[in-house]
Amino acid sequence: MEREGEMVLGLPHEGYGRTWAKAILIGEHSVVYGHPALALPLHSLRMQAWAAPATEGEEPQLSALDYEGPLAGSGERFGGLRRAVEVTLNYLGTTGQGFHIRTESDFPAGRGLGSSAAASGAVVRALLDAYDAAVSDEDILRLTNQAEQVTHGHPSGLDAATTSGQGPVRLEQGAMRTVRPRGAAYLVIADTGVAGSTKEAVEGVRGRLEADPDGVGRLMDELGNQAAAAIADLEAGRMEPLGDHMNQAQELLDALQVGHPTLDKLVQEARSNGALGAKLTGGGLGGCMLALAADGDDADRIGQALKAQGAQQVWVHRLVA
Ligand code: MEV
Repeated sequence: MEREGEMVLGLPHEGYGRTWAKAILIGEHSVVYGHPALALPLHSLRMQAWAAPATEGEEPQLSALDYEGPLAGSGERFGGLRRAVEVTLNYLGTTGQGFHIRTESDFPAGRGLGSSAAASGAVVRALLDAYDAAVSDEDILRLTNQAEQVTHGHPSGLDAATTSGQGPVRLEQGAMRTVRPRGAAYLVIADTGVAGSTKEAVEGVRGRLEADPDGVGRLMDELGNQAAAAIADLEAGRMEPLGDHMNQAQELLDALQVGHPTLDKLVQEARSNGALGAKLTGGGLGGCMLALAADGDDADRIGQALKAQGAQQVWVHRLVA
């Protein structure tokens, strides 16, 4: 990606960047094909990155920690972080300088909470901070999305935007706008403890769509319709119908074959404890479940029930514009 205009850079110092986890309320997978989706940042779950200039002759080091411990030193995640470094230094025109990169996350990777986009975005920001470079939010998102291509192939852009702190947002055909919920809503997010690869899930859906364009295309259209109606409900404060749309979306995601038995168990548990709606969130094949609760008491009760059913971790989030 080319930078417009001249940028005068001084000597780098240690830089810091921060992003957040995200949750997709509705519209994952169909958003990749231009249908609407709604997602938001979870500001209680941070991703932090530090970029320290390497001295001459030093081998730049890369390390990543999430709340479960160090991530493996190879594979998609590290490929994405390396790409984040590469595209950002190219953009700044300072490719001769190496950096030691460290990330630390309050939330687990591979659970549909946007860990890879959050890590790439935090690294991009840490490097820009290391040079005190003032860069537009738009360019930061573009750099993050370029790094995300390593991890996710063809990301819709929803993860990069919401992990940067924007939201709730509605994304459709690449166009993003802020959504303003009316009234209070609570989200209960529960980790199945099963890691699911978003890349694998997205590629699987693409394969099924290519094999059956009409049938799978109809599922996509219907997911898009459910998401559009859900967003209108949220903006009008109609929480019960919003929950119904989430339940419908879960059936459609199951039909797209991105579900998982452990997710199903938590979805059922949330519904039988009073959730207005419950579904997977993110790429699926494991990962996290998201339930809508009418108030804080319901959210706490649902959270307790999910823990008793084996959820590894539960987070409650109050949904506000
Ligand atoms: C992943 O968090 C969400 C997906 O819709 C992929 C994307 O939007 O790029 C599955």
